[in-house]
Amino acid sequence: MKKYRPLIEIIIFILAVILLSSCNNKIINHQNKSDISGREKVLLNKEWLFMQYDSAEEADDLIYDVRPEVTDARDDKPADAEPTEAIEVTTKQEVLKPWILPTGNKFIKDSTQHYDRPTGNPGENFPFVQSDFNDSSWQTVDLPHDWAIKGPFLEGWDTEVGGGMGRLPSPGVAWYRKEIYIPVADKNKSVFLDVDGAMSYSMVWINGKLAGGWPYGYTSWRLDITPYLNIGEENQIAIRLDNPPNSSRWYPGGGIYRNVWLVKTNPIHVGQWGTFIKSKDVSKASAKLELEVSIDNDSEKEVLVQTNTQIFSFKKNGEKDKDAITTFDTSEKRVPAKSTIKILDSITIEDPNLWGPPPTQTPNLYIAETTIAVGGEIVDIYKTQFGIRKVEFNGEKGVIVNGEPIFIKGVNQHHDLGALGAAFNKRAAERQLEKLKEMGVNAIRMAHNPPATELLDLTDKMGFLVVDEMYDSWERKKTPLDFHLIFPEWHEQDLRALIRRDRNNPSVIMWSTGNEVGEQYTGEEGAKVARRLREIANDEDPSRPTTASFNYAKPDMPITEESEVINLNYQGEGIRNAPAYAHLEGINTPPLYPAFHEKYPNKVIISSENAAAVSSRGTYVFPVTAGISAPVSDTTGGDPENNYVSAYGLYTTSFGASPDKVFTSVDKHPYVAGGFVWSGWDYLGEPTPYYLSRSSYFGVIDLAGFKKDRFYLYQSRWRPDHPMAHILPHWNWPDRKGEITPVHVFTSGDEAELFLNGKSMGRKKKGKYEYRLRWDDVVYKPGELKVTAYKNGKEWAEDVVKTTGQPARLKISADRNNIKADGKDLAFITVEIVDEEGLTVPTAINNVQFEVEGPGEIVATDNGDPTNMNPFPSHQRKAFNGKALVIVRPTAGKPGAIKVKARSEGLSNSEITIESHSDNEL
Ligand code: GAL
Repeated sequence: MKKYRPLIEIIIFILAVILLSSCNNKIINHQNKSDISGREKVLLNKEWLFMQYDSAEEADDLIYDVRPEVTDARDDKPADAEPTEAIEVTTKQEVLKPWILPTGNKFIKDSTQHYDRPTGNPGENFPFVQSDFNDSSWQTVDLPHDWAIKGPFLEGWDTEVGGGMGRLPSPGVAWYRKEIYIPVADKNKSVFLDVDGAMSYSMVWINGKLAGGWPYGYTSWRLDITPYLNIGEENQIAIRLDNPPNSSRWYPGGGIYRNVWLVKTNPIHVGQWGTFIKSKDVSKASAKLELEVSIDNDSEKEVLVQTNTQIFSFKKNGEKDKDAITTFDTSEKRVPAKSTIKILDSITIEDPNLWGPPPTQTPNLYIAETTIAVGGEIVDIYKTQFGIRKVEFNGEKGVIVNGEPIFIKGVNQHHDLGALGAAFNKRAAERQLEKLKEMGVNAIRMAHNPPATELLDLTDKMGFLVVDEMYDSWERKKTPLDFHLIFPEWHEQDLRALIRRDRNNPSVIMWSTGNEVGEQYTGEEGAKVARRLREIANDEDPSRPTTASFNYAKPDMPITEESEVINLNYQGEGIRNAPAYAHLEGINTPPLYPAFHEKYPNKVIISSENAAAVSSRGTYVFPVTAGISAPVSDTTGGDPENNYVSAYGLYTTSFGASPDKVFTSVDKHPYVAGGFVWSGWDYLGEPTPYYLSRSSYFGVIDLAGFKKDRFYLYQSRWRPDHPMAHILPHWNWPDRKGEITPVHVFTSGDEAELFLNGKSMGRKKKGKYEYRLRWDDVVYKPGELKVTAYKNGKEWAEDVVKTTGQPARLKISADRNNIKADGKDLAFITVEIVDEEGLTVPTAINNVQFEVEGPGEIVATDNGDPTNMNPFPSHQRKAFNGKALVIVRPTAGKPGAIKVKARSEGLSNSEITIESHSDNEL
């Protein structure tokens, strides 16, 4: 009988797996109670106690490390300024870094380089880490939490936080505390604290003991808190964050701004991000799946484990299909005590539903369910969402997905969500992606840091291609206290953590290790750093190429050898090389696509950043440049009195190029695989060219989510089959009667006729390398502008713009009228100031007051105006060029009607009702 035992155990195990797959149908990511395997993943977002010191001087001295003194705090340097060398600092002060570094050991490949935890427990006597500390005066907050987004905005030239970082109080030292009860039933469990993102320099104490932490504010990280827990009791978590000033070129946010989870497993379990599923030999007929599973044995005994992985189709509602499509063979392996092993397996799947970008392909997903058993008893079940696709990189044809060349119609996106700040919210991110999709976008570059995992979940489901990026600086700094300070000690851990976390996301097509890093300006020295990062990335994931974005490095510089895909910022179309830019100082580069293509004929070239065009939605400045691209200045496209930039879409930063110029350049170099616009949405910080503002002018969509005119220029190019025409500017110019007021039209047609008050202004056809139709000599007369666009000689689309009357009433509309009563969903409600006939008054700036009745609350308001210093939580907002936005959150667990009312003096009110539904109703 003894001889048959292993066989019997395997049979019991297989039966258990079959039984389980029929009853357990939820994805682990969304699951918050223990399944039969004993794995439990609980969202730990509710009711943290929070305290922030009033100033850095008052903060405690439990510091991660000393920092260099800041001698030059200006954050208005141009984005293409050359990064400079790091400064070395030495100190005798006690720093806590030695206790934090071991947290990253699992991400350092060479175990001889692992950090040993020193003896002692720094901070253990500090009151905030004690369980009996009275924190009742602290503020109660729910995560994700961004301590700075509520403001106030710091206005003026010499403020502690300038325009570069968004004028919001993100720097500072703060503490979060929470008690968690660990029941006796968890006595033999491994317990982990998973932090998806905290800004920054996190250090965690559990029951007064410093358990570890992680400095980079964008990395997701895990702490094994098992050794510090008291079973059958309340346990005190205390997290200290320290967000330095002068640490970023944009708004970083501050606080625990992503989810925090408590994960409990049996001691034998799938490791953190412990599965990797690669698809090989992919065709419509079949695909080979290679599976890697890391199994951790946290116990003191060696064990024999049986592993089995089943593959399921993914259903739309986030659940897996009932029956498994196929199963990897059950394998058996020994896992020594206190160690990790890897199990490798492969399988061929017939007729796979491939993952690919719409509209020509479908982003199909699968779920792999890995079950681990010991002695026939299931000890862990772990689910992995993945996609099957083949991505090829071809120097002539570009990026090829499942055999189809996909031209990259991409945008760069920063991590903030406008008025909601850095605090991640899935609906807000989804709304950003929806609008980008409407524009025709099929790719996102995560500029310049790891995104929230939920964002990649969305890009997977919606079918975007993603460049997943690590850093904005390596060893050379861009701002005095940016993350160059931790690069030498943390780059391996950060990069491996990013790749392990995101390697199963089919939307991710390449890893970018850096953006415009200072190492470009060095020779072999910089190439060495790039090589090290490439080797780490290749080691973690040989299936995707690695890149870094260059705005300076030339083809003959050694650093470019290290990029497996050539990602060029602005250099492709040339920097400051057009006549309108000739007088400017700074990097000057001719179009470099040909030089790079010649040097690297087999490498794909992507314009990872292009345009850097700037505009304020609905604002037009005259005269309009006759060229196709011009640098913005106080006299060209800029309105220095109001700090606005004209929205004709022709004005750019000194190193940028208008969309038209970028299109021309890409079309002249057909091997270019496409590119990423800087930027898709406006973001907080970097308000070039008007430093006194609080948010950017780069977005094709403004900070509130309203489309600027440029939206339609991109749509006309990226969705050629979508009939559309768009006229600009608006036609309310009482002071311009008789004056030349150029009219431009963006259309996916090839020809159009413009009429002013019924009179033809002429029919025009797009010439070669022309992307807009322009009637630059129209003399303004109030009335109606109408355009009829043609494609191949046939009527294709129409647009009408009318001179409106005075503001008369408010018009209110919502992005969705039905939302979930889960306390996380959001309704984005737009208010337009309209005239008697219901036409939006394009210059209206009326002040609007918002109010909510029913189970919901106002989270923020905005209007997309980068100069508006009214704090985001305010319930009143001036319209900007006719529009304002209010963001409403439903109360968790209280379904019902939420009435949102808008009032404005002298105008008729308006209201809308949003239905908030319980989970099972939607
Ligand atoms: C680039 C940089 C971006 C942004 C952009 C616009 O040089 O990579 O992060 O700063 O310029 O200013």
